[in-house]
Amino acid sequence: MKFFLDTADLAEIEEAASWGAIAGVTTNPTLYAKIGGKLSDFHNHIKRICELVDGPVSAESVAMERNEIVRDGLELAAIAPNVVVKVPTMVEGLAATKELAAHGVPVNMTLCFSVPQALLAARAGARYISPFIGRFDDISDDGLAQVESIVEALGNYDFSESTVNGERIEVIAASVRSAHHVTQCALMGADIATVPVGVLKKMVQHPLTDAGLESFMKDWEKVQ
Ligand code: E4P
Repeated sequence: MKFFLDTADLAEIEEAASWGAIAGVTTNPTLYAKIGGKLSDFHNHIKRICELVDGPVSAESVAMERNEIVRDGLELAAIAPNVVVKVPTMVEGLAATKELAAHGVPVNMTLCFSVPQALLAARAGARYISPFIGRFDDISDDGLAQVESIVEALGNYDFSESTVNGERIEVIAASVRSAHHVTQCALMGADIATVPVGVLKKMVQHPLTDAGLESFMKDWEKVQ
């Protein structure tokens, strides 16, 4: 499993990238607003993220109509070679994905909540598909079960004719709220988990590691 950092915060990205575990970054309009981002600086900001990370950086189009999404997508893709255009799962988004894929632009189909949506995204030519876990749990449903079904359903078919250069589609487990989510997604075979830095920190921690470290340090004092 690969890990992406789910943030638009440059300091968080720089810090997490130094840990060696980050293979990419995902952003969304909320994450950009959260760091006080402004529309006029959006493309520059994505460029800065692309310079910090040696891997795919998802930047979202906020357009609602297919031609506008394609125009947005082409502009975003021109920022850096590692930009991936995030497109919402909806009819206009599918049409735009087909068009962007034809231009060789990788698309991360986002806000995916069902197997039929994921299958349609795959047929439209998406490079990445992002089922959301936490938001599904928030409506008293089972986000992890949904990821499991999507991984299984996509694995049943060959989508190489739909994707750019026949690349394999990767499932990004998104809206990840805990290290437990990460464990379960890894066991289900999700390709990537995109995680906030808080979850990444929790993934490193274990009480037995802390206890073991404390006892080693105490014993080491005895040999001084
Ligand atoms: C990532 O691609 C998503 O935008 C993100 O994981 C959403 O997470 P949230 O549901 O915690 O906002």
